Amino acid sequence: MPNRTYDLIIYGATGFVGRILCHYLAEHLSSTPHIKWALAGRSQNKLECLQKELETQTAPPPILVADSSDSDALQGLCRSTRAIVSTVGPYAVFGELLVAACAETGTDYCDITGEAYWIKRMIDRYQASAEQSGARLVNCCGFDSIPSDLGVLFLQTHAHERFKSYLSSVSLRVSSVRGGASGGTIASVIEAIKAAKSDPDLRRQMLDPYQLCPQTNLYKVPQLSLKGAGYDSVFNAWMAPFVMEAINTRVVLRSSVIGDLNYGQDFTYDEAVLTGHGLRGRLAAIGMSLGIGAMLISFYFNPLRSVLNRWVLPSPGEGPSPEAQLRGNFDLRLYGTNEMGAWLGARVNGDRDPGYGSTAKMLAQSALCLLETPHQTTSGGFWTPATAMGDALIDRLQRHAGITFDIEESPQNIGK
Ligand SMILES: NC(=O)c1ccc[n+]([C@@H]2O[C@H](COP(=O)([O-])OP(=O)(O)OC[C@H]3O[C@@H](n4cnc5c(N)ncnc54)[C@H](OP(=O)(O)O)[C@@H]3O)[C@@H](O)[C@H]2O)c1
Repeated sequence: MPNRTYDLIIYGATGFVGRILCHYLAEHLSSTPHIKWALAGRSQNKLECLQKELETQTAPPPILVADSSDSDALQGLCRSTRAIVSTVGPYAVFGELLVAACAETGTDYCDITGEAYWIKRMIDRYQASAEQSGARLVNCCGFDSIPSDLGVLFLQTHAHERFKSYLSSVSLRVSSVRGGASGGTIASVIEAIKAAKSDPDLRRQMLDPYQLCPQTNLYKVPQLSLKGAGYDSVFNAWMAPFVMEAINTRVVLRSSVIGDLNYGQDFTYDEAVLTGHGLRGRLAAIGMSLGIGAMLISFYFNPLRSVLNRWVLPSPGEGPSPEAQLRGNFDLRLYGTNEMGAWLGARVNGDRDPGYGSTAKMLAQSALCLLETPHQTTSGGFWTPATAMGDALIDRLQRHAGITFDIEESPQNIGK
């Protein structure tokens, strides 16, 4: 890519995640000044304030202004950089023109969307032009779905080394998670519910676990999806549905059929939250399942949604406090068996609030990793984190993002 002024542009730099990301990058890149990066967004004023904040840590990155509805301005951003990261969401509302511009100009792209229906729409519309221009587009580079996608890759790689075959079924269990939600995340969930409500075809499509797999994918074994309280016999504990399951399972299934990975035609993958042992665990699982149902219902009906939005939920730009982000963490357990019944487990741990402090680090490292990934290894098109960057990203996350990946020979106590 000759004549590109920047290596990386952060689009949405002044949003809740965008700001955390920029502070992290300013510190992280202070030892690698050859990487030229810039801050972009819709508001010159907000960008200037952020630029001032960053001045204390490093030579401040330049600022670039572009509204998400201004196709020419977005094309200009894309033509000036090798890669662009976007935190401008809900992506189904603000994301399409940037993806189109990246696909057309051959600019690499990473985001943190969890909106599977929007990703599918983007693949259908822009896969061909991205293949032609060489743009690598990688969605879901945050808590959804990096720990799941790379956790499965890590476990499967070790299983293959050990057993000479992949595990035919893998389960992820959230052992503990400590974090909050931002206004941007809530807005994206509400947007997805509104889209499903008004379009029955889309509703059907959203229920398909193979939603993000190519149409030509013939591997369609039924996938498990927990809808209420259940029991996990490996951990001898109760479990409840995990809210991120809807996006994570689709990303993992896409990883298993595109690119060089192929976990097998009978591969199944599911996710749930462990709630503990005995009666207490069971009651917690029932309570959590009811809570998720109540949340979805309240987002579905407009008067209730408006009341919550106005009085209870954070607004766009707001989210967990810096102290809460520091106190946050996550502990995920994965396990699976192969066709011969051999068992292997893995553990993925992260520091910081998973959706914000940790997501910002995952997104930054994804973009830096993509910049280092040769086009001969990953060609143009839509990729998942595991298929675009795989082991190189696992390595980066362990070295620079406070995330650890470990193999477990047997299920460890979940301590609940
Ligand atoms: N995958 C994950 O784990 C994960 C975690 C957290 C968040 N997310 C997703 O990330 C997205 C951002 O979350 P957030 O909490 O950072 O949201 P936010 O604080 O509301 O930030 C949204 C950003 O979009 C910008 N924006 C809005 N309209 C725009 C327009 N017309 N043109 C250009 N920019 C525009 C805003 O600009 P201003 O600053 O000028 O208002 C802001 O920078 C959401 O979709 C959320 O669901 C994903």
